[in-house]
Amino acid sequence: MTAHGDQTRTENRGLVEMGSDHWLDALLGHTPRRPAPLAAPPAGSALEPVPGDRGLPFIGMGVHTVRYGPAFLLALMRRHGPVSWWQAFGRKVVAVSGPEAVQVVLANRDKAFASGWPAVIGPWFDGGLLAMNAPGHLADRRLVQTAYGEEALDGYLRAMAEDVEERLDRWPVGRRFRLVDATRELSGQITTRAFLGVPHEGVGRKVVDAVEECIRAETALARVRLPGTLWHRAHRARTWLVRYLHQALPDARARAGEDFLSVLSRVDGFTDRQVALHALFTVIASHDTTTAATLASVYFLGKHPVWQERARAESAGVVSRDAAGVDRLTTLDLVVRESIRLVSPSPILMRVAVKDTDVLGHHIPAGQLVSVCTGVNQLMPELWSRPDRFDPGRFDEDRAEDRGHRLAWAPFGWGAHKCIGMRLGMLKVKATLDALLRRYEWSYPESYEAPWRFTSLPAPADGLPTVLRRI
Ligand code: HEM
Repeated sequence: MTAHGDQTRTENRGLVEMGSDHWLDALLGHTPRRPAPLAAPPAGSALEPVPGDRGLPFIGMGVHTVRYGPAFLLALMRRHGPVSWWQAFGRKVVAVSGPEAVQVVLANRDKAFASGWPAVIGPWFDGGLLAMNAPGHLADRRLVQTAYGEEALDGYLRAMAEDVEERLDRWPVGRRFRLVDATRELSGQITTRAFLGVPHEGVGRKVVDAVEECIRAETALARVRLPGTLWHRAHRARTWLVRYLHQALPDARARAGEDFLSVLSRVDGFTDRQVALHALFTVIASHDTTTAATLASVYFLGKHPVWQERARAESAGVVSRDAAGVDRLTTLDLVVRESIRLVSPSPILMRVAVKDTDVLGHHIPAGQLVSVCTGVNQLMPELWSRPDRFDPGRFDEDRAEDRGHRLAWAPFGWGAHKCIGMRLGMLKVKATLDALLRRYEWSYPESYEAPWRFTSLPAPADGLPTVLRRI
């Protein structure tokens, strides 16, 4: 099915190309790139140095990174090849793009790469799976996995459904509001009850605020604990969160509830501190990613009324109260997959080289930060027909464009750290959209293109102004 009237229209240009319309784009377009090799390969080796751009002193190409996200990295790959580097705010980062290069790093056969997230986002999520490495990581992952069985998922979904219905009923109708804020609030509310077993009012809101404080600190340039700084506030937030979760554990264990904390607290093999740290990272990992995926899907459904109508008609005929019910929303599944192809909630995955190594014949020195650009693969014309176009039918069985390469579509990552909450995340997003479609309809003008920005996770800079109409 093609949901576009006009086949020649250029849509989502800002997602695949760096802009040129705004004065800031013109300025950034003239930033000197100052190409240079990253580091000399060992003498006598056949390896090549990694080519790349220094950009401006200190800032490098940092503003490009935030403003254009994967489109900037796609341009970098076109200029320098699948292994390149760029500088952003004083830090040199290797960019690995294209399916072959991405597979080398994520497969990590010679164990040359460790998680690079702590170096980028800070120590707030230490003790969570994504900050861990082999062999401890695998052992912990196996234990955490037991909290993602189908029965447990149904319990989380039941807890979410009530909150989603209640919160969506309160969304404004007939007037413009910022969808970014409303979706983040909704996700926060869902998170506290389904993951921690507490209502959003009171302590639940405090948890979400503290989590967001930690996430915000990722953008801090000054990484010192001076009072008033983002870094200092994140330190306080993390200390409070760990203490809170620790104290909440005896009750979570005793109530034998359906929330994630309660389920995880009954898993044999973890200390209380480990449970607290895994639960903390789970809240963080699920909150912003599902917010970004929901936002992208609502946006594209609003731009493509044919798909919105088709998804709504499907929702009307399906009882979606449990995981099996949500699984029957196959149109919505295509829509979400396509939305997070175009706007990947986590378009780069951070790794660090723990020893000298190479990727496709390019020398990577020990200690080097590497960003694995899965979000670039999802936009490559070599892998996708008209990648700028919102076209959920490309995931249909008969087209299956995502199967062209195992790393063509990887919004949930791949390899040892592949998202453990992938199924739950998709269920959460689809259940939210299903409830929205049953209540409201919405659209965005043909001329409107959301100004996606990529500070931590992607979100439209204008808050995505939206008007809902009750059905
Ligand atoms: C649409 C929603 C989501 C997206 C796009 C997403 C994306 C990702 C990605 C890309 C990774 C791999 C990161 C890397 O390799 O560096 C990851 C890991 C992870 N995700 Fe998700 N995620 C989502 C939802 C969730 C949810 C709902 C949960 C938990 C309930 C969750 C928990 C985790 C955890 C614990 C890891 C670390 C796994 C490990 O290191 O072994 N995610 N996610």
